[in-house]
Amino acid sequence: MQIGTSLTHCLIEKQQAHPDASGEFTLLMNDIVSACKVISSYVNKGNLIGILGSAETENVQGETQKKLDIISNDVFTDTLMQGTQVAALASEEMDDVYHLPANAKRGKYLCVYDPLDGSSNIDVNVTVGTIFSVLRAPEGVENPSEQDFLQPGTTQVAAGYCIYGPSTIMVLTTGEGVNGFTLDMDIGEFKLTHPNITIPEDTKEFAINMSNQRFWDAPVKRYIDECLIGKEGPRGKDFNMRWVASMVAEVHRILTRGGVFLYPIDSKIRAQGGKLRLMYEANPMAMIVEQAGGMAITGPERIMDIKPHKLHQRVPVILGSKNEVQILSDYHKA
Ligand code: AHG
Ligand code: MN
Ligand code: MN
Ligand code: MN
Repeated sequence: MQIGTSLTHCLIEKQQAHPDASGEFTLLMNDIVSACKVISSYVNKGNLIGILGSAETENVQGETQKKLDIISNDVFTDTLMQGTQVAALASEEMDDVYHLPANAKRGKYLCVYDPLDGSSNIDVNVTVGTIFSVLRAPEGVENPSEQDFLQPGTTQVAAGYCIYGPSTIMVLTTGEGVNGFTLDMDIGEFKLTHPNITIPEDTKEFAINMSNQRFWDAPVKRYIDECLIGKEGPRGKDFNMRWVASMVAEVHRILTRGGVFLYPIDSKIRAQGGKLRLMYEANPMAMIVEQAGGMAITGPERIMDIKPHKLHQRVPVILGSKNEVQILSDYHKA
């Protein structure tokens, strides 16, 4: 695929490479892309149309929702529901599985999403995004249940995110590498700008919320302590630190120039299993990172090997440059 090729063209070309493909996946991806364009436009307009600020409602995880959490969820859900390529949907902002209306046409996919990631950043005009994971629906099931969504990350058909930053960029994987497409706002089209993204294996940059330091477990304490000692310590190099508080922005930075991102388990959040959600944050990002040559673990185990037990399950997340994540994996096994 050539730089500048439209995302639509790339999807159709991909479909043609599989002569037995029905075209359903292409249509689903097209709907996801349309939904992200609409969300991008809302995010960009902000308070010109009065959509910043809190909605004063709570989602199932006890977070206070922003107006844009709800708007983005509605846009994504309505677009995919009308597209007829899915059998059911699930989202951070919906308590339970979203079932299609009784007479609606069903497709063979399930889609689970974080409609607006990093929403604590929206009011301060810092980067946010949308994260999604595409799974296969079980055959012959009219209304898939929560149980049907609980597939390990290794079964994902596709995963991606759309980042709403200085540019809007769609990053996608279908299990054959990772590509990035930038939205040309003048013509409303995503164009290939970042072909075959790979994460550098080594890095000198980590991302973690340092305010949780006193709650961390020993392996993470050891790793960050060693980074902070820098050149004089066992790592023999000085490290830089970043924390945007939008997972999409952290992952995008890591895909661009390497790095390691941690939202580890700690004593404050141990009871809930972690901070980030497995089905629509950890798994899709793990697939993208692995497809780009990186690693994604909870600490002791690979994220995509986890057999989920509930839709809104939370997990610890450590991902990024292979050689750094490997060190963290070794520290967890020591
Ligand atoms: P969301 O806005 O979808 O609820 O996700 C927020 C997540 C993630 O994007 C980010 O990495 C993390 O929360 C930030 O957490 P802290 O505010 O604890 O730093
Ligand atoms: Mn949230
Ligand atoms: Mn999120
Ligand atoms: Mn969110």
